[in-house]
Order: sequence, then structure tokens, then C-alpha cells
Amino acid sequence: MKIAIGAETDPAEPRVAATPETVKKMIGLGAEVAIEPGAGIGSGILDADYEAAGAAVAKDAVSGADIVLRVRRPDPASLKGCKPGALVIAIMDPYGNEAALKALADVRVTAFAMELMPRITRAQSMDVLSSQANLAGYRAVIDASAEYGRAFPMMMTAAGTVPAARVFIMGVGVAGLQAIATARRLGAVVTATDVRPATKEQVESLGAKFLAVEDEEFKNAQTAGGYAKEMSKEYQAKQAALVAEHIKKQDVVITTALIPGRPAPRLVSKEMVASMRPGSVLVDLAVERGGNVEGAEAGKVANVGGIKIVGYTNVAGRLAASASGLYAKNLLTFLEILIDKKEKKIAVNWDDEIVKAVALTRDGAIVHPNFAPKSAA
Ligand code: NAI
Repeated sequence: MKIAIGAETDPAEPRVAATPETVKKMIGLGAEVAIEPGAGIGSGILDADYEAAGAAVAKDAVSGADIVLRVRRPDPASLKGCKPGALVIAIMDPYGNEAALKALADVRVTAFAMELMPRITRAQSMDVLSSQANLAGYRAVIDASAEYGRAFPMMMTAAGTVPAARVFIMGVGVAGLQAIATARRLGAVVTATDVRPATKEQVESLGAKFLAVEDEEFKNAQTAGGYAKEMSKEYQAKQAALVAEHIKKQDVVITTALIPGRPAPRLVSKEMVASMRPGSVLVDLAVERGGNVEGAEAGKVANVGGIKIVGYTNVAGRLAASASGLYAKNLLTFLEILIDKKEKKIAVNWDDEIVKAVALTRDGAIVHPNFAPKSAA
């Protein structure tokens, strides 16, 4: 059984799908591991580190592979030479990319999308959305503080008092919770909002103040899977009015609101941005999915009348070494359920709810009900 680690082809992707630690564990599962040269460099891992862990470093690492691990969805050309039906595991970005999924099906690999991991206790250690969002939430606050021309904590000095920064977090999932905790550690006065009622207690337990339109719709805004629903136009209008009043008085706003498979909800209008005082900073973590903040530009820090809107993409990748470490661990725990340790071979249980949730392609077809052509679904 051969496991190949591909080097990422997108120059904007510094993460890698394995670390020396996970290579050792994969060898322990009975695998032979090969990795493409330079795959770890963006995360501070040298080829020699992988070799010391027992991996072979080779340009044709994918050749003859039973399993290919990547960070992002590979193009079919980079999978050339792997075994027919090989398992290809990555963050596949499947929504709206059905043609690319079809291309993977056409080269007859079995593709698994790590971001479709169900939110059940058994899958928690395989949950890449959580592992990466947690780091992104932390980094968003660090990026905000770097762009903000004032200090975050209150400082009483002989030369006068520096007031604490007021930080508002919109969207309190994994990233938002970490952003609250990080901003609090830096001494900011933190408020937060979300449409899922379960978040109120979480916000308060982190020492922040919760702000939301708490009507009937709010009470039912969480899906069984733990995600937010798309809110009605009426709710969004009420939410916008509340937010507009609050945002005026904030120094930093960090937005993290997402709805799986839908464009990100627009939470901050350009009028709200303009109501903030010059020097204020907004960080839009949803910029890649359409953005929560009007005027946010992907990959840039936009300056709108002296107010900065930070729109960095791949924010977890801005902490590449940490992000790769956690991602590689997520992959390893997923591999453990796909491999029969005793027999040292792949043994996929297609009835396992985890496998069913993440499987995208198999035997030349798109098999996931959300992405399969309607007639086949
Ligand atoms: P996400 O990344 O999909 O969205 C971020 C946040 O934006 C969510 O809290 C969502 O409610 C919020 N949001 C959506 N529309 C909004 C709007 N119009 N206004 C304000 N906020 C809005 O969510 P994430 O971080 O993936 O977490 C979702 C939930 O899943 C959390 O409760 C998390 O604790 C839970 N979870 C459970 C796991 C498990 O049981 N294994 C693992 C990971 C997360």
C-alpha cells in the first residue's frame, strides 16, 4: 500500500498534507510513503525531515499510489500514474465546481472531500473546517491588530491613558469563538453576534457581550447539522438595523459568517463601513465565499476613506506550519478508518456514515447526492 503526498500546485497554498510525524504514523499503518520534492517548504518542513521520518522523496511520488493526499483539489494531470480507483483525499471545494469533480471521476479516482466531514463526535478529530477555522479566527485578530493604528489593551501610563479597543465579532462558529478569545487575551472589549441561539451562551462564557435580534426565527436558525440557515429578508433587515447602530462605535469588526453551499451573507454595507471612524479596521474572513463586508477585496487590504478592510484569502495558510500540522493530523485520523491495520491494506466501509458523507467520486461517477447529476442522484 503506497501513500503519496503531492506538492501543492497553487502558489497561494503554503500548506502541506503530511508532516514528519504523520508520515511515521502512516508507515505504522503498514504504508510506504512517497512525497514530491519541496512539498513541505511553505510550512517549514524540509525534504530531509520527511526522509528522516521514513518517506521517499521523489518527483514521481504519485506513480503507483493507492492513496494520494493533498491540501487542495488536484487537477487530474497531477494524478497521472496513480492506481485505478486510488483514494484521493483533499479539501475539494466541491460547491459550484461540478465540472472539476466530473474530471476527477473521469480519471477513475475515488475522491473524498474533507470539508464534508459530518459534525459528529467520532469525526471531530477529522474536521478540517474546525482545525483551519480556529487558526483563521486567531489570525484575523492578529491581522486586525497589525493594521490598527492603536493598541488593543487599555494602558494607563504617565503620559495618559490608551483606551481599550472595541472589537465586534460577527459569526460565532469555530473561527468567531477563537477570534473572541484572542481579542479578549489582547485586552479588547468584545461583543459578538450570530443567528444561532446556541452561540449566546458560548459568547458570554468567553467574557464577551452578545448582541442579536432574538425573535422566533432566531430560535430556529440552527440546522440539525449545527450550521446556520439562510435567514429571511425580514430578519436580515432587522439584523442590519441593530448592527448599523452598534458598528458606529466599534474600532475593529471581524466577520466570519458562512452558510454551507451558499454565498456568504452580506452583513456590513458600505454605509456601515463609512459610519466607523477613520483608522478602524474590518477583517472579512468570508471574502473567498463572496464576502460579509461590502467593499472587501480578495487578497487585499482595501482602504475606504481611511477605514481598512482586510480581505486576505487562505488565512489559515498565513499560519502554514500550524495549519499543516493540524490538517495532516485530520487526514491521518481519517486514514485510520480507511485502512485495515492488521492486513496492511485499504478496507473502505462504504456503509460508514463518515465515508458516505465525504465520498465524491467512485468508479467513474460523481456519487455524492449533493453534486451528482440530477438523474443519477
Ligand atoms: P460556519 O463557518 O459555517 O459559519 C460561521 C458562523 O457564521 C456560524 O456560527 C453561523 O451561525 C454564522 N452565521 C451564518 N449566517 C449569519 C448571519 N446572517 N449573521 C450572523 N452570523 C451568521 O460555522 P462553523 O464555524 O463551521 O461552526 C458551526 C457550528 O458547528 C458551531 O456551533 C460549531 O461549534 C459546531 N461544530 C460542531 C462540531 C462537532 O460536533 N463535531 C465540530 C465543529 C463545529
